[in-house]
Amino acid sequence: MNETVAVKPEELHDLIQNKLEKAGLKKEHATEVATHLVFADACGIHSHGAVRVEYYAEQISKGGVTLDPKIEFEKTGPSSGIVHGDNGVGQYVALKGLEHAIEMAKESGVAVVGISKMAHSGALSYYVKKAAQEELIGIAMCQSDPMVVPFGGKENYFGTNPIAFSAPRKNHEPVVFDMATTVQAWGKILDARSKNKEIPNTWAVDKDGNPTTDPYAVNGLLPIAGPKGYGLMMMVDILAGMLLGLPFGKHVSSMYDDLTEKRNLGQLYILIDPKRFTNLEVFKETIDSMVTELHSIPPANGFDQVYYPGEINQISYEKALASGINVVKNIYDYLISDDIHFDYYENTNAFGEKK
Ligand code: NAI
Repeated sequence: MNETVAVKPEELHDLIQNKLEKAGLKKEHATEVATHLVFADACGIHSHGAVRVEYYAEQISKGGVTLDPKIEFEKTGPSSGIVHGDNGVGQYVALKGLEHAIEMAKESGVAVVGISKMAHSGALSYYVKKAAQEELIGIAMCQSDPMVVPFGGKENYFGTNPIAFSAPRKNHEPVVFDMATTVQAWGKILDARSKNKEIPNTWAVDKDGNPTTDPYAVNGLLPIAGPKGYGLMMMVDILAGMLLGLPFGKHVSSMYDDLTEKRNLGQLYILIDPKRFTNLEVFKETIDSMVTELHSIPPANGFDQVYYPGEINQISYEKALASGINVVKNIYDYLISDDIHFDYYENTNAFGEKK
């Protein structure tokens, strides 16, 4: 088990912001990335929290992110638009895009807003939760590095292309569900390696496209539910990539390949104002009723209770705000050190391994 340190969210925020500013990011951008990463860690999405800072710092230092991007919103219709992100840091560009989408959805009932050209945008739940806090339904999806075999294939093609969904509730925080379209993230395979444990043969394939239980033999991840997840990742690539004229499938840039190159990634929001379809208060109460009904379903063997989809992240978030965020000790040590980065990620493969 990795040793962890309990860190107050504000302290973690300041450490991350400081490190990213030292790497070259503007204060306004660094503070937004820090807010986002602290949110992810607080939600228990540690794959997209402080663990990313060293990579971001290296990418920022080496020119992979535009430090002073000209972010422009092009309104293409009453309910549609594109935010040109100029490859600014992903979390900041994605937030600016969301702000335009929220304004548009409130005005016209629906907003479909694409973000064209940005760096890695992190955990999508961050964005859709904000939309639901504005009493909108939120859907977000984005492209990511090609590290997944197509159903029945031997070579990687699509990314782990995540999808997130949110809806407002009457008396509680919104429901937020957020998932990659792969069975497991690469981080889970790294974890199995560190513990010298086999992985289930449903997670990944080796270089011949055969399911593997050896975490060291993994060459590609598997889509969730075979052809169904495969279809979803295609949908994401079409909506968050091709629709915006961006590279798609295996042409999407790899996170670590060349840290001096901009990533040109795409993201898409679909926001819906429930008021345009039904009574908002009744709608929010109905979501509360659904949650109550789900909670009342007796748990199956091996489960403690039924949670609504995504609830475990909300529980983790509330706990973290009260009692601190558990940060892996070596990440904490890096954050409090004077080092900006260790030149680790350059020229690693899609999985962050040395080539
Ligand atoms: P995961 O597999 O840990 O969880 C997926 C969803 O299932 C979550 O909403 C979680 O709350 C829910 N869930 C898990 N157990 C549950 C239970 N017992 N009851 C009810 N709901 C439950 O998440 P995954 O797929 O590993 O994704 C992690 C993060 O990575 C996401 O935030 C995603 O947006 C992000 N991501 C970002 C990418 C990018 O390029 N920006 C690429 C891929 C993923």
